[in-house]
This record gives sequence, structure tokens and C-alpha cells, in this order.
Amino acid sequence: MTLSEIRNLILDDIQATDTLILERLASDVVLINQIGHYIINSGGKRLRPLLTLLSARACGYEGTDHRLMAAVIEFIHTSTLLHDDVVDASDTRRGNKTANEVWGNAASVLVGDFLYSRSFEMMVEPGLMRIMQVMSEATNVIAAGEVLQLLNCHDADTTEERYMEVIHRKTAKLFEAATQMGPILANKPELEEAFVLYGRHLGAAFQLIDDALDYMADEAELGKNVGDDLAEGKPTLPLIFVLENGTEEQKALIRRAIESDGIDLLQEVTEIILHSGAIAYTQKIAQQEAEKAKLALAPLADSAIKTAMCALADLAVNRTH
Ligand code: IPE
Ligand code: IPE
Ligand code: MG
Ligand code: MG
Repeated sequence: MTLSEIRNLILDDIQATDTLILERLASDVVLINQIGHYIINSGGKRLRPLLTLLSARACGYEGTDHRLMAAVIEFIHTSTLLHDDVVDASDTRRGNKTANEVWGNAASVLVGDFLYSRSFEMMVEPGLMRIMQVMSEATNVIAAGEVLQLLNCHDADTTEERYMEVIHRKTAKLFEAATQMGPILANKPELEEAFVLYGRHLGAAFQLIDDALDYMADEAELGKNVGDDLAEGKPTLPLIFVLENGTEEQKALIRRAIESDGIDLLQEVTEIILHSGAIAYTQKIAQQEAEKAKLALAPLADSAIKTAMCALADLAVNRTH
């Protein structure tokens, strides 16, 4: 099943969510509209809102608040990207200049805050305390994950375990919250655990591949610069693999790259990453996460939506952007 086949299953929901995203972006402050539209219209994959829409359908939800919550999830994602690009000093996203590159760091941080708080205004609307609980916890965990990652930066002794902890918090948590909306809205608490596990493992697989792509992707296709992680001294799994399995010479070079502003060494580091099995290892762990995601859906009866959710787990691993 391809991504467009998956989307076709719930096209009405997707179109309604896209409309809602544009409507709810509006503000009487011009710069908010400018930056908001710039980032929202720049072609994100909208994967997380898709998860919310699919999970609601999978749980037999018949109302319309899943669209609202899908928009909420995309706003939170977008606000974390606005902040993330400032923190990572990234200049390209979704094939365009980042907002911080065009309008500066201050505007990006503040509009990120606007989207974040707008999402909280919206998530109150369904009137469900469980939604507030899950979303407030998720945003807090994501923020802590970004801080934890900051502490690992330039630390070549970061273990695979510490790395997994960061990606669970900074990325998997939002996937988890996105899929948890289905059982909550459909009032099926007995299904929450399955959806939480699915989202968590899918999100981990997604970030593992993001970290592999940071060394191997085609920049034009990825829409982001490769090498950004190294430039920030981020000890991601491909680097950790070489630090554990490489030759003494390779280990020394990777260590030096993480501890300094490694971008000068990008070519040598990339060469090592591509030829040491580091990418294959990262992909293997991502595939394992995808298998766990699919397994988590076992309690669900077979349906086209369940098939689509399983296909998404494989797509997260096999993606090139
Ligand atoms: C980027 O997420 C941030 C990560 C967690 C890797 P996406 O790759 O889903 O970003 P867009 O929304 O499609 O641009
Ligand atoms: C993104 O992590 C995670 C969040 C936005 C919370 P990355 O820094 O790896 O994402 P990209 O590569 O910039 O999209
Ligand atoms: Mg980044
Ligand atoms: Mg990245």
C-alpha cells in the first residue's frame, strides 16, 4: 500500500483537516499569518495528523473532533519544528529556507509559541479531560526530550540507550499522542494501550530513519540539509554504531567530529558511516521498531484501516524523505 492509497481511504477527513489547519492559523497579527502560512504551506508530509485520523476510524469514531485533534497535532509538530530549527541552526526545511533564516530566531520562537498555545485553545474544545491529560503530558515530554538531547550534544560517550531515550521523548511521544486520540475520542479506553504502543514504535522507527537520512539522503528530495546533526555534534545511532564497532582510527575520527563542530569532517565521517554497516544497523533497529508497531495492532479486527496502519510502519522505514 502506498502513502497516497492510504490517504485515499480517508480523503474527506484529510481535506477537512487541511481546511481546519488554515482556518485556525489565522491571527490579527500580520507576521503570525505570514510565518504561519509560509511553514504550513511548504509541503510537510502531514504524517502525524494522518495517524490521528486513521486511529479514530480504526476505533469506529463517528464524530468530527478527530479532525480538530489532527490539526492540533500538526500545530504542535510545526511549533516544535520552528523551535528546533532555531536550536539546530538549520537553514533549510521542506525544500525552502527555514523561518529563522528568513525572519530570524526571535520571530520563529515567538510564532512557534503562538502555534503551541493556539493548539491548546483548540484541544479544549472536545471537552474531554483525557485529551488534556495526554496532550499536556506529551508536550512536556517532548520539551524535556529536546533538553536531554542538548545535554548529549558533543558527548561521544552517549550510549545507544541514552539515544533511544531522547528519540522516544522528542519524536515518538507525539506519534503516540496522535494515535491515542482515536480510542479516546471513540471512548474505547481498552484500546488505548495498543494505540500508544503502535505510535511509540512507529515514531521511534521514523526518527531512526531521519537520523540515517541525515547522512545518506539526497538533499533536494529530503528538503533539508544533510550533515545538520553532525554540525550540532549530535551523537545519533549511526555515529554510536561506529564508536562501538569501528576500527580504532574510525572511532578516533568520529569522536573528534562529535566533540568539535564536526562539519569540517563531514565528508570523512559520511564515508565511514556509509561503509561501516552503520546505516544498515540503524535501518535494522528501525525495522524492528516497525515490526513492534504492527504487532501492537494485533487486538484490532482486520480492516482496510488496520492494513493501512501496518503499511505506514513499513513506509516509515523505507522512506527517502
Ligand atoms: C521532522 O518530521 C522532524 C522529525 C521528527 C524527524 P517530518 O519529517 O514529519 O516533517 P514534515 O512535517 O514532513 O516536514
Ligand atoms: C526533530 O528532531 C524533533 C523535534 C522537532 C522535536 P531533528 O532535529 O532530528 O529533526 P530535523 O532533522 O531537524 O527535521
Ligand atoms: Mg533539527
Ligand atoms: Mg534530523
